[in-house]
Amino acid sequence: MSKIQEMLIPDTGNIRDALAIIDANAQGTGFVVDADQQLVGVLTDGDIRRAFINAGKTLESPVVEVMQTRFTSLHVTASPEQINLLLSDRIRHIPLMDEAGKVVDYASRTRLHRIPIMEPLLGGNELAYVSECVRTNWISSQGRFVRDFERMMAEFHGVEYALAVSNGTVALHLALDALGIGEGDEVIVPNLTFAASINSIIYTGARPVIVDVEADTWAISPEKISAAITPRTKAIMPVHLYGFPCDMPAIEAIAREHNLLVVEDNAEGLGTTLNGQLMATFGDAATFSFFGNKTVTTGEGGMIFFKDKAHYEKAAILRDHGMSKQRKYWHDYVGFNYRMTNLQAAIGVAQMERIDEILHKKCQIGVRYNEWLTDVEELTLPPQSPDVRNTYWLYTLLVNEQKTDLNRDDIIKKLLQNGIEARPVFYPLHVMPPYVEYASGEYPNTEYISRQGFSLPSSVGLSTEQQMEVCRALKSLFKVRELLEG
Ligand SMILES: Cc1ncc(COP(=O)(O)O)c(C=O)c1O
Repeated sequence: MSKIQEMLIPDTGNIRDALAIIDANAQGTGFVVDADQQLVGVLTDGDIRRAFINAGKTLESPVVEVMQTRFTSLHVTASPEQINLLLSDRIRHIPLMDEAGKVVDYASRTRLHRIPIMEPLLGGNELAYVSECVRTNWISSQGRFVRDFERMMAEFHGVEYALAVSNGTVALHLALDALGIGEGDEVIVPNLTFAASINSIIYTGARPVIVDVEADTWAISPEKISAAITPRTKAIMPVHLYGFPCDMPAIEAIAREHNLLVVEDNAEGLGTTLNGQLMATFGDAATFSFFGNKTVTTGEGGMIFFKDKAHYEKAAILRDHGMSKQRKYWHDYVGFNYRMTNLQAAIGVAQMERIDEILHKKCQIGVRYNEWLTDVEELTLPPQSPDVRNTYWLYTLLVNEQKTDLNRDDIIKKLLQNGIEARPVFYPLHVMPPYVEYASGEYPNTEYISRQGFSLPSSVGLSTEQQMEVCRALKSLFKVRELLEG
């Protein structure tokens, strides 16, 4: 699906320029705009064909002589129903405009969900760096970008030992393995998380012990951790869910008291701070995911931080088939191939060049949602604390069941009908077949949050207007007075 920028044809160009744009976007259409991105015409490949055959135009003819000046457009907040009414065999693309007449989006039959839950922002040096990999043949895991990406992440977090890997799941597995966790050990994990957290524990042969989260922070409960400790407990895996931090000082205190390791699953918490300290700088190891929907992305990708040099060095060997660094093709361990490619890291480096901007935008999105949804008594907003900078990986909130009969799934369905992608919170681990055996006791908080929770569009590139549209659509479901007008 093309982005709006790929659809725009400057009104100063000729047909040759316009054809190049239409060819590249593969939509057969472009929107002709002036220097202020105001729409002045629409041009299809059919218009160009007809201009050649019937009107004697050439590749050098100005675009403005050929474009259609009577065209169909809609406001960016138009509903999928309104869009569908206008789409036809003749009109396959509809430009969507803001109040100032600027083209900010477009709709087509395959693009009715105009506000996705999370899409990457790749407008920096991503393309240039990936092209450099291809041009120079450095496309495997050798090459400068892997080391640069590790260095940039380490420097940003103020840590020493960072290891890039192929994704966030293997980051967790490798972290646990390098810390020596395996058969006979127990690892405590929250019930409310993405399944990769618990899967990675199971890969090692250790036994996961599932505990409930807290009602007010949605994060693993330190109290429940303490209650779950046995002589076999070896580690705790806090997960900074949806960008809100776990109570790391409390978890560290428990770990110290019982001599346990801490592995932070920070797939969703990049940039989040607690009392000014970044997540992933607390644990003996901490992991990241750079999947396409993450705050910083490499498409697929992951990273591990280690506190201890020995663990880092062991993990570096395990990442590379367990092969000795001194003696080529001599294997010290049963290792893995968990390396990140230079291509992935090239994207990561370009993302890290803009990390401050990315995090600023993520925080801003959360602050705006908080402000605009604060008066909706049918909703419980995400956890908040003055000690926390939440980076809102996905802005996630709860339907307040005491205040409305609307259920969470209906809300998601209705938002989708309005072109807004929303997503339910993860299922509790303990209800899914592979994990039932690791459950013990009750999990009321996880069950409630999982049943009532849903996430709203949270892309770094989400515009203020799109966010207003999301809030309007959501509020209208509860018939709340419109406060966002203007
Ligand atoms: C909490 C959590 N842990 C682990 C992962 C796994 O990361 P990946 O998809 O990169 O393997 C994810 C995300 O996908 C996640 O949200």
